Amino acid sequence: MYYKINKNSRRKEEGKLSYEWTRNHMTILNKIRMKNLAKKPLSGYKIGLCLHVTKETAVLAMAIKDLGGQIVMCSANPLSIQDNIAAFLTSEGIDTFAKRGETQEEYRKYIQAVLKFKPDIIIDDGGELHISAHKNRSRGIIGGAEETTSGVYRLKMLESKKQLKYPIVAVNNALTKHLFDNRYGTGQSTMDGIIRTTGLLMAGKQIVVCGYGWVGKGVAARARGLGGNVTITEVDPIKALEANMDGFNITQLIDIASTGDIFITCTGQTQVIAEKHIKRMKDGAILANAGHFDVEIDVNYLISEGGNPKEVRPYIDCFYMEGGKRLFLIAKGRVVNLVGADGHPPEVMALSFSNQLLSILFLSRNHQTLESKIYDVPKEIDLEVANSALGALKIKIDKLTNIQRSYIGS
Ligand SMILES: NC(=O)c1ccc[n+]([C@@H]2O[C@H](COP(=O)([O-])OP(=O)(O)OC[C@H]3O[C@@H](n4cnc5c(N)ncnc54)[C@H](O)[C@@H]3O)[C@@H](O)[C@H]2O)c1
Repeated sequence: MYYKINKNSRRKEEGKLSYEWTRNHMTILNKIRMKNLAKKPLSGYKIGLCLHVTKETAVLAMAIKDLGGQIVMCSANPLSIQDNIAAFLTSEGIDTFAKRGETQEEYRKYIQAVLKFKPDIIIDDGGELHISAHKNRSRGIIGGAEETTSGVYRLKMLESKKQLKYPIVAVNNALTKHLFDNRYGTGQSTMDGIIRTTGLLMAGKQIVVCGYGWVGKGVAARARGLGGNVTITEVDPIKALEANMDGFNITQLIDIASTGDIFITCTGQTQVIAEKHIKRMKDGAILANAGHFDVEIDVNYLISEGGNPKEVRPYIDCFYMEGGKRLFLIAKGRVVNLVGADGHPPEVMALSFSNQLLSILFLSRNHQTLESKIYDVPKEIDLEVANSALGALKIKIDKLTNIQRSYIGS
């Protein structure tokens, strides 16, 4: 089913206002758009997008359109869609196959709809569209970009089996992406999602953050900033040591399972919170996930023991476990920052999506000489984004003198 909208609807107007508000906070993306506007370098390119349908994504989509690209879009997650943005984009001629709460079947169908459009370039968040394009043996794709850690990981597996069919730029690997988006963007918006859905005080809570990668670091810092008593669980000894020296408690999940008030998974792994942990949790414990896929918390176990949950507040399901214990799952175990809140703030998405836009321009210029491999974002793009962001903030930094340059080189 195609998501049809009434072009005069209030939703479209709401979406437009939200888009305009956000665009004003994504200065550097606008600068790239303005710089390339006259040449329309994406003319003739069909671009398939599978991203969270948010106000920030709308700014990227409109920039691609303004540079001549023709876009069809679906959502990277059934619950992360902002319907007013989908309505606004459709009214602007960007076919958006997405509606909040779409079923799994619809989600798959919309991915196929994007592939039917025969895109030349694919921009994905999580790897679903890239992997579907490979399964469908889609032809004519000259390249793609991937937004997140879990997506890059999946595509690297394809590359290692020599099954990758076109070059893909790992946008997540740009420093100006994961240092800021994964850390500050997910950090703030994850706590925002938990606060908006629960309405609870974070100060004094025992907050358990599973994973101390970029996302975990951001979530832990923000949870601590709100007064939470934060404990980290890790499998990587270096990250665990880092968390320890950053001043957090570190323990095994099984040992903190019975005392934690709020558990937040940030790993990209499956079954991080499993049956043995859930069995130990106390009455009233809250579970949330910030990782890309809804596999980090064993929701099937919650259902098998607790039966069908009761929605006690929007996006909070209560499972009644054996012995009368109640466990609360936020956002069905899906990305809590995008389901329970608006996702990453625009300032941080300006960095990520500037990398996306510059990577697409790079692909459009260089695809003939690129191999079917995963490429990092070229260093010049990373530096261009950082310099441009500093410029927008009116921050000046020092430059190495000639003497300093030759001292380092000597
Ligand atoms: N919600 C969002 O908006 C958003 C934004 C960016 C990234 N992500 C996703 O978040 C996830 C994490 O991304 P990242 O960039 O932090 O990755 P990362 O690789 O930097 O960090 C993941 C960390 O989890 C640890 N880990 C793995 N298994 C674990 C386990 N069983 N218990 C405890 N720790 C474990 C790893 O050792 C690693 O330190 C990915 O799925 C990524 O795609 C989500």
